[in-house]
Amino acid sequence: MLHNDAVTALTTRPGVDSLVIAALRRAGASTSVGVDELLARARRWGPDLEAGVRAVFDGPAADDLVARLAEVVATGWIARPEPLRARDRERLLTPDWFQRPDTVGYVAYADRFAGTLSGVAEHVGYLRELGTTYLHLLPLLQPRPGANDGGYAVADYREVREALGSMADLEKLASTLHDNGIALTIDLVLNHVAREHPWAAAARAGDARYRDYFLLFPDRSVPDAYERTLPEVFPEFAPGNFTWDDEVDGWVWTTFNDYQWDLNWANPDVVCEFADITLFLANRGVDCLRLDAIAFLWKRMGTDSQNQVEVHGLTRALRAVARIAAPSLVFKAEAIVGPAQLVQYLGAGDYAGHVSDLAYHNSLMVQIWSALATRDSRLLVRALEKFPPKPTTTAWATYLRCHDDIGWAIDDADAASVGWSGPAHRAFLSRWYLGDAPDSFARGAAFQVNEATGDSRTSGSAASLVGVEQALEVGDVPMLERAILRLRCAYAIVYGFSGIPLLYMGDELALRNDRSYLNEPEHAGDKRWMHRPRMPWDAAARRHDATTLEGKVFEIVRHLGAVRGSLPALHAAVESAPVLTSNAAVLAVVRRHAAGDLVQLYNVSEDWQRCAAGVLGTLRWRELVDHLGDDVPRIEDGQLVLPPYAATWLGAR
Ligand code: GLC
Repeated sequence: MLHNDAVTALTTRPGVDSLVIAALRRAGASTSVGVDELLARARRWGPDLEAGVRAVFDGPAADDLVARLAEVVATGWIARPEPLRARDRERLLTPDWFQRPDTVGYVAYADRFAGTLSGVAEHVGYLRELGTTYLHLLPLLQPRPGANDGGYAVADYREVREALGSMADLEKLASTLHDNGIALTIDLVLNHVAREHPWAAAARAGDARYRDYFLLFPDRSVPDAYERTLPEVFPEFAPGNFTWDDEVDGWVWTTFNDYQWDLNWANPDVVCEFADITLFLANRGVDCLRLDAIAFLWKRMGTDSQNQVEVHGLTRALRAVARIAAPSLVFKAEAIVGPAQLVQYLGAGDYAGHVSDLAYHNSLMVQIWSALATRDSRLLVRALEKFPPKPTTTAWATYLRCHDDIGWAIDDADAASVGWSGPAHRAFLSRWYLGDAPDSFARGAAFQVNEATGDSRTSGSAASLVGVEQALEVGDVPMLERAILRLRCAYAIVYGFSGIPLLYMGDELALRNDRSYLNEPEHAGDKRWMHRPRMPWDAAARRHDATTLEGKVFEIVRHLGAVRGSLPALHAAVESAPVLTSNAAVLAVVRRHAAGDLVQLYNVSEDWQRCAAGVLGTLRWRELVDHLGDDVPRIEDGQLVLPPYAATWLGAR
């Protein structure tokens, strides 16, 4: 039974739509064109906004925050340019745009790809050649001067990094991309701001309001209590999770580098600030926000302070704000966490379909590398088959490489299920990809070796990790051909999994590790710069010459993108199911779809392999076609025969 006061509160509390209309009235905009649609959306997503807020805050604080967010919605919507409102209407008719098989992603630093934002616009043709429909430009907002973690230490969310151009250039680029069928993603760094951000500057100057934007402690007692259960993200160059700051006269929570100050998301002011920033960026024409380091937003004593349920409440509220005011905006969660937690970022239980639309599939990435090193796909299958289904309206962002290192997130229980030890396998993978194993094909570097846990992560470009660098070093042509096939096999898994495949800049040209970062004082201490090369446009010019390395690899990824676009069975509403075959070296990924089943087979080894044809399921061999254009594998004695590193997408003719 609800208490009488609660009943009164429930019946008298205004809904989000009423709050929005009241805010529009105050702004003199309650009769503007499009208000009906806005209010319809407020009725549709208002309950989400409320549910998100009330998952984190209680009583009057929650009521107040709901009202403030409704105000943010109203002002954000008033400021939304008409072409973007038109885009909203279009996207609402195609809410699955990012799930469609013809979605192909490309990820680059604007400066490293093309110098400036207008430079990026000049290379739209190149992106189109690759079938790109989604472009993620790595951090481009104004960072702090000096070291800034590749832009992940933001000093101003409303300005573009000077060297790249201006906000007006960003708007212009977004519009050029839209005209070319490409959606724009940028990073929204939510967990922390730069020590030089005006909020942090005000906190350092002693402003109580802004001190409460951060997690500050007068002495070590509370930090020490937290540290007992906190992991370290950068044990080598930023050990610990707290930094003493003389100006603040206290310890600041700094999960990442000492100049990246974690925000206090328990403060409703912080929530409002980011709701406002979200709409500000959406109104510049950004289509997707990559929610950087989102797993870390909420801290809880006695835990690792990652993946706390409040994170999902906060995402739900922010997403509802965007859905109402700028519904073409989607969210992509960057949560590099274990399999059990990962799916929660797309929504599990009460949050299903109410949080991020996209999330990085970190497990798939790690498992592909593991399968290539071991020539064994069983661990991949074991790890992925345990994944709960994701909401049908969401999609994975699949990838082989990105601007970050590879953390060997192999679950101990998964490893045990194939008879391996988790710690030993993780140690094996970091040694292997370092190139520190007698028969390793890789050339990587160890990143953030943690003496305490023995963990060591890996830096390196895809081409260097699959063996291209080694083959070129020794000048061995068959070895190079093998490395190219290995890269094709890996990228075919990424492109064939459904969701958005993210091609990381340079992989399409088989760019090797770039060690020039060692001569740049700002980057020399961070080995991730080894795989953040500058685009060599002279090498890119060889991309149409099939006799060159660049030409071969470019054609491989271009073709994967083109084929994927033609296959309805790759729509992300349907799950990919990796399944064991009769041979550990052969991975099968099965997609059951109303448009027809698709069975993908990947030989993760350099030898010929066979596997029982039963894996074809409902498909009949006589009617098979390989959509990737290779010959359909022949059958001998009930076994499919697959050449080295075969990658084949089989469907009915
Ligand atoms: C994300 C970024 C990484 C950065 C970190 C802190 O993980 O991908 O590059 O160092 O967040 O912002």
